[in-house]
Amino acid sequence: MSLQEKLAELRQEALVRINEAKAERALQDVKVNYLGKKGVITGLMKEMKELPKEERPEFGQLVNEVRKAIEQEIEAKKVLLEEEALNAQLENETIDVTLPGRKVSLGAKHPLTKINEDLEDLFIGLGYEIVEGYEVESDYYNFEALNLPKSHPARDMQDTFYISEEILMRTHTSPVQARTLEKRNGVGPVKIICPGKVYRRDSDDATHSHQFTQIEGLVVAENIKMSDLKGTLELLARKLFGADREIRLRPSFFPFTEPSVEVDVSCFKCKGHGCNVCKQTGWIEVLGSGMVHPNVLEMAGFDSSKYSGFAFGLGPDRMAMLKYGIEDIRHFYTNDVRFLEQFKPVEDGGEA
Ligand code: DAH
Repeated sequence: MSLQEKLAELRQEALVRINEAKAERALQDVKVNYLGKKGVITGLMKEMKELPKEERPEFGQLVNEVRKAIEQEIEAKKVLLEEEALNAQLENETIDVTLPGRKVSLGAKHPLTKINEDLEDLFIGLGYEIVEGYEVESDYYNFEALNLPKSHPARDMQDTFYISEEILMRTHTSPVQARTLEKRNGVGPVKIICPGKVYRRDSDDATHSHQFTQIEGLVVAENIKMSDLKGTLELLARKLFGADREIRLRPSFFPFTEPSVEVDVSCFKCKGHGCNVCKQTGWIEVLGSGMVHPNVLEMAGFDSSKYSGFAFGLGPDRMAMLKYGIEDIRHFYTNDVRFLEQFKPVEDGGEA
């Protein structure tokens, strides 16, 4: 077989292989096998010296033509394969835009978070600061600085978890009052609210939990009167329970306030006529409050002849139970999503 015939045969063979190639990889192999440094067509060039001298230039040209032809075929096939791959991919990845969408289900704010945020909004708007204290507290700030000396009988109602004789889990957010006043070095005005967790040695039942939440409020300035307290509490009650609520103050006792009051709000369910929520009285007890006891001011370094103040403490757990008709306080702390889901914003439309 002459070299020319061999070349024609190799060309044919290479074209068949290119044609059969199913992937770029196979094309690459053809290229290496035929046109590479050690490829068969390159090899033919080396055999050229067997040809008579005058035939060599022509043969050389022929080999180059064949190389070019094979290269072009490979390129053309490559484009074809790429196109095929793209088409196959497009087919696989078609998006049916008529399918109904998968709804992203929104979470809901915990009802206690909601109450806290509502009240924080209200009080920030009134120029209060939000202050946080410590859940692990000293006997001094939790009791003594609030006019509850050791062995005071009112301590009985607030038994708690003791870490040591002097260190305990705070029973209320009121110690933040004492801590904040102390830091202000006897200079008013002080306007704060303090949300946080508190602890009591209570046996857990539907209305008691060893851990629950409170929000403390404190205002100390010159000329603060009971009427300031009443106006503030009225706003608070209306924020939580509706614009047409009334409040009423009943005399009470707290060691850290004098006078002390319990605050009732007119029932949001029956509007004061009497129902199961207000136990037929038309009023619901919502918080404890009063005018800051001079002893508390003095112990924290405030001159009680110059400054006066009011304070209040409310329980978001109880507020949320009343507001949403929740019958068991433990629901707030067990994090059952079936419970929490009920507080989803209405616009979310519930589950997908
Ligand atoms: N600390 C009280 C409690 O946990 C609630 C309270 C009552 C706080 C009256 C106050 C207040 O600041 O003035 O029972």
